[in-house]
Amino acid sequence: MNNIKDTADLSRRLFLSRGLKSTSALMLGAGVLSSRLATAQESVTAQASVTEQASVTEQASVTEQLSQAVTGEDYWQMVREQFSFPDSTVPMNAANLCPSFRSVADQVAFLTADIDQDCSFNNRSKFSGLLENSRALVAAQLNVSADEIALVRNTSEANNIISNGLDLSAADDVIIWDENHPTNHVAWQVRAARFGFKVVTVATPADLRDPQQLLDAFVAQFTDRTRVLAITHVSNVSGIRLPIAELVQAAKARGIYVHVDGAQTWGAMALDLAALGMDSFTASAHKWYMGPREVGLLYIKSDQHTRIWPGVVASGWGSGAETRQTGARKFESLGQRDDAALAALSVAARIHDSIGAARIEQRIVQLSQHLKSSVVGLGLPLVTPMDAALSFGVVVVQTPAGQGGPLSNRLYEEFGIAGAGTGGLRLCPGIYNTLAHVDRAVAGIKQLMA
Ligand SMILES: Cc1ncc(COP(=O)(O)O)c(C=O)c1O
Repeated sequence: MNNIKDTADLSRRLFLSRGLKSTSALMLGAGVLSSRLATAQESVTAQASVTEQASVTEQASVTEQLSQAVTGEDYWQMVREQFSFPDSTVPMNAANLCPSFRSVADQVAFLTADIDQDCSFNNRSKFSGLLENSRALVAAQLNVSADEIALVRNTSEANNIISNGLDLSAADDVIIWDENHPTNHVAWQVRAARFGFKVVTVATPADLRDPQQLLDAFVAQFTDRTRVLAITHVSNVSGIRLPIAELVQAAKARGIYVHVDGAQTWGAMALDLAALGMDSFTASAHKWYMGPREVGLLYIKSDQHTRIWPGVVASGWGSGAETRQTGARKFESLGQRDDAALAALSVAARIHDSIGAARIEQRIVQLSQHLKSSVVGLGLPLVTPMDAALSFGVVVVQTPAGQGGPLSNRLYEEFGIAGAGTGGLRLCPGIYNTLAHVDRAVAGIKQLMA
């Protein structure tokens, strides 16, 4: 807002812009509002140091508790207690959005209040160090260099940075999977219309029993024209898991650029991106990572940084075509960001380290296999393969056409389980879900499908 002289002026403008119409609202003058704002500000100041202390202590105790080398339901109950949702509205849709760990949400709130209290450059200068801290922790977990990680806004943006940033022409083919998310599917078709390259779409084999069938279906499409293979680690519509390591190996042997959308695996699966060897990998912190919202992961292998053009060039880039940013940081030249969220990613990273990626992965497999076998036990068909080599955390129950959405709504309204109507009835239990939550979902499905 321009030309605001003081708090009273801001109060008056807020008052007018909100268009308050009731008599009592109209009685609130700018003076009253400004004194309320001043009181609120004092109270934020007073609470800030207490909150900071509390959040540091809480984070330390959470990570210590979760580092315990125990397993079993008592351990997972302790994990469940790190989330604020009540048992009456249980999230089971990690493929779309997860709740954040409570201490992540607290950190976002604390740092947001800190910025609102003092948004000077001086106060905000600490955020570049906090961002680097988040980047370093995430990079170490993925076994890549911090210079290969850009923290962008979400998977959608990260996928589009790749499809928009590679130089492709009419002589080139891009191979995609028909189960890719629109941001890694339609986005390629839009760029193909602009740059003239061809998009080749690979379908999932109808009688899928073995990951080799998936590998063969893609490799059969490789030609001398193939420049890019753009795939998804685990599909959000069927739950099918691609044999990523083998696909990357086969494509790299032919010099093909490999992009993997990891929205359904980052934070849920132990990932070693250096060993997997793809050229780029994308994900969102607000899904299985249970981190802050609107923070996205874009990994680009160091030898590809100069090959990919940035989508957005903003302040901090530098003055010519060569950026002054190091490595993948050039892809996060996006203007003013939500500094609090980017900084709070480090809290989620520390919690992941405490629990351990292998323990998280085992739990996700346990929950999804339990869910699938219970559904099959009811005599109901699954879209998602039962075989853990062909699936992971996304479970889709087959429903009559058009019934996925209505059934999902009833499961929420009548049983307090929040799934989705994507590809059927989709349920994706995260580590905040207990086996009792999964059993409640199954009891609901039994009743609704009867
Ligand atoms: C495989 C996949 N890619 C990308 C996205 C987009 O994620 P976001 O909305 O966080 O950008 C999703 C969302 O469900 C997804 O499942």
